[in-house]
Amino acid sequence: MTTKVIKLSPKNPDPKAIANAVDVLKSGGLVCFPTETVYGLGADSFNVPAIQRLFEAKQRPSDNPLIVHVGDFREVSLFAGDIPPKAKTLAGQFWPGPLTLVLQGKETVPDIVRAALRTVALRVPNHAVALALIREFGSGVVAPSANLSGRPSPTTAAHVLDDLRGKVDLILDAGSTEIGIESTVLDVTVDPPVILREGGLTREQIEQMIGPVRSTDSMELLKRSPGTRHRHYAPRAKLMIVGSTMEIESIAKSGKKIGVIFHSFEPSSFEAKNARKLGADVKKFAHDIFDAIRELDEKGVDVILVEQVKERGIGVAVMQRLRKGEE
Ligand code: TXA
Ligand code: MG
Repeated sequence: MTTKVIKLSPKNPDPKAIANAVDVLKSGGLVCFPTETVYGLGADSFNVPAIQRLFEAKQRPSDNPLIVHVGDFREVSLFAGDIPPKAKTLAGQFWPGPLTLVLQGKETVPDIVRAALRTVALRVPNHAVALALIREFGSGVVAPSANLSGRPSPTTAAHVLDDLRGKVDLILDAGSTEIGIESTVLDVTVDPPVILREGGLTREQIEQMIGPVRSTDSMELLKRSPGTRHRHYAPRAKLMIVGSTMEIESIAKSGKKIGVIFHSFEPSSFEAKNARKLGADVKKFAHDIFDAIRELDEKGVDVILVEQVKERGIGVAVMQRLRKGEE
């Protein structure tokens, strides 16, 4: 299969390009598209053979369910039955945006979408290209991040091509994504709701609207979101979080080829040919972290050392991913 790439404006996408992408989805094809978080790998949420191909393209374990992307809140009723008041409040406030709500799924939602769970995950992404595509399509687009399973999520079309060239029909290229890490996944089938994955929307923003939410322990996470037990966010190189330049020096002495991603260190105080400085502001750090990991991985380093960030705001989600990447 040859993968076609269409470049389009992130703010005013060409309707012809969108119509073309909708045709591909309607005929059972796979279309990668940008969202405000990361690039997604889209398929028709009711086309089981197409979704099987999606799982194959990504090499995704079948127990990891998919997020259905919808055009607006009304479309939710195609997929979920019981919508609790807190879910309505959150959708009203944060959609379109980086929040995925886990709701009671309707029986009509194919098993492959929800990995045979009773629930279904839904979100309305905040990106003109994604919205145009999903709204024009009209009945839900499943879209995991458009990377090979286990690898860091893609924030540019080039990342998508690196992982999925020849395995998808079309990539809509609208430049790099704004947030750079994935949506927050919140299970609202229980009260208080449970955060299954930290992400682009912070816990504080959620709690301001609906009061306290819970975190999960690993047993509960396994039950509610079985796919999270698989390896995630991992480069080929070993990933390690570091807190000081001294740690870098001691690892460098072991003779390993190291890469460093940092935001506050003085680069003169450690030795590494492959170093990448990211913005000190944690939002900028989040925007570039997956790109930096992929870049150093391409350079063939043995270890990627990443300077820790403060666990505040989106920094919580960044650290959660780095820890997963270390596993
Ligand atoms: O920002 C994002 O969420 C991106 C963009 C493309 O929208 N998508 C994304 O999809 O990150 P994916 O498949 O890489 O991650 C989906 C997460 C996984 O952790 C999965 O286990 C969880 O959502 N999930 C999906 N359906 C679920 C369900 N019914 N119950 C619990 N967790 C679910
Ligand atoms: Mg993913």
